[in-house]
Amino acid sequence: MTIEDTTGQDATSVVGSKWLSGVYAPVHDELTVLDLPVVGTLPADLDGRYLRNGPNPVDAVDPTTYHWFTGDGMVHGIRLRDGRAEWYRNRWVRSTSVSAALGEDAKPGARHGGMDTANTNVIGLGGRTYAIVEAGARPVELTDELETICHSDLDGTLPNGYSAHPKLDPTTGSLHSIAYHWALPQLQYVVVGAAGTVTKVEAIEVDGGPMVHDCSITERWMVVYDLPVTFDLDDAMSGVRFPYAWKEGRPARVGLVPLGGQGSDVRWFEVEPCYVFHPLNAFDDGNRVVLDVVRYGRVFAASTLGPDESTPQLWRWTLDLSTGRVDERQLSDVPLEFPRVDERVVGRRHDVGWASGVRNDDGRSGFGGQLVRIDGATGDARSIDLGAGRLSGEWLMVPRDGGSSQEDGWLLSLVYDQAEDRSDLVVMAADDPDGGAVATVQLPTRVPLGFHGNWVPTS
Ligand SMILES: [Fe+2]
Repeated sequence: MTIEDTTGQDATSVVGSKWLSGVYAPVHDELTVLDLPVVGTLPADLDGRYLRNGPNPVDAVDPTTYHWFTGDGMVHGIRLRDGRAEWYRNRWVRSTSVSAALGEDAKPGARHGGMDTANTNVIGLGGRTYAIVEAGARPVELTDELETICHSDLDGTLPNGYSAHPKLDPTTGSLHSIAYHWALPQLQYVVVGAAGTVTKVEAIEVDGGPMVHDCSITERWMVVYDLPVTFDLDDAMSGVRFPYAWKEGRPARVGLVPLGGQGSDVRWFEVEPCYVFHPLNAFDDGNRVVLDVVRYGRVFAASTLGPDESTPQLWRWTLDLSTGRVDERQLSDVPLEFPRVDERVVGRRHDVGWASGVRNDDGRSGFGGQLVRIDGATGDARSIDLGAGRLSGEWLMVPRDGGSSQEDGWLLSLVYDQAEDRSDLVVMAADDPDGGAVATVQLPTRVPLGFHGNWVPTS
């Protein structure tokens, strides 16, 4: 194993905030590690890169005001091939301020809305790699080895900012997403074609500047979550870096736009006030549309530094297109987050889903827990323990070559070991998660619990 530290940054002291300590604590070095040790046997058909983005402040920040959603982005990647873990790299996504902190020139590319921190997700698109985020900033293009190339408007086709949660239509290869920015009075429904350029932008009328973190698609519909967390001008004027807050009394609703259709054709369905960061999946069921979502009773009302004031649980919303009514029912009481299904069934009925358990930290919810298996038909959620002091983030399902079942493949996640203060990339068999890891790639560092990522197969 060879370790190269490419930055030599001094450790900064960032203690005193839950979102800056323990499993969330930032790391201070960019590493390049070759030929990582593997316990077990890496499946030979895993040929590609496991990538994950998350907040990692480059400089010391004020723990009393730091919001988890605002930390500088850092992408972690592990390259797997021929049963070997060829490398691990972690690199800050070069926003203007990160470049300055590292003593580098600013990266090229037009910014939007004065924002350029991309810390939430990382995707492969048209042969390129992008770090992405919501609320105004544009995608940041990275090399295969995670070095920042530029801030991108997708070859001149993206008019404003983008989203952290585009949904890939498995039939067409197009990405469907909702973009928003406080200065834009409407949401933007953005479609990006498989070639990596924007093919459609549609305006959707809303009031009050809602935070629209994610979206869903079905075979027929684009699903818009217009929920009561909205832009707060007073917070923005006073310098709050994440000026979105719970808006008591504001209605909550879900919109359906014909997939690839016009924003003016949106049809709204009212739901009980709540917040949803992440749907598990959605699908058409005759004259109904079924949305399985991770629902919070409220967020960003009392707790303004992170989403930890109510317990996220799986609910099913069934929209009746005939009556306009919504049946809302809780499917499970297991606390969970970061839900995913096999990417081949996004927008279609799923047999199974996967999530990370959510634990209780001194009365507030804390991310990073067990692997949770969700039965697609019933919504029953079952927690699978990872061992004492071991906490996972988002789990990805990577199908086995030629496999068709949604459980014929591999589950991948970064798992943090509290005792060792170090992380592993854990690979489980999706059809036998109780059997434990089939392979564990041992990383030489801790990877802070972050947000989202994807498996990018070798093209
Ligand atoms: Fe997210």
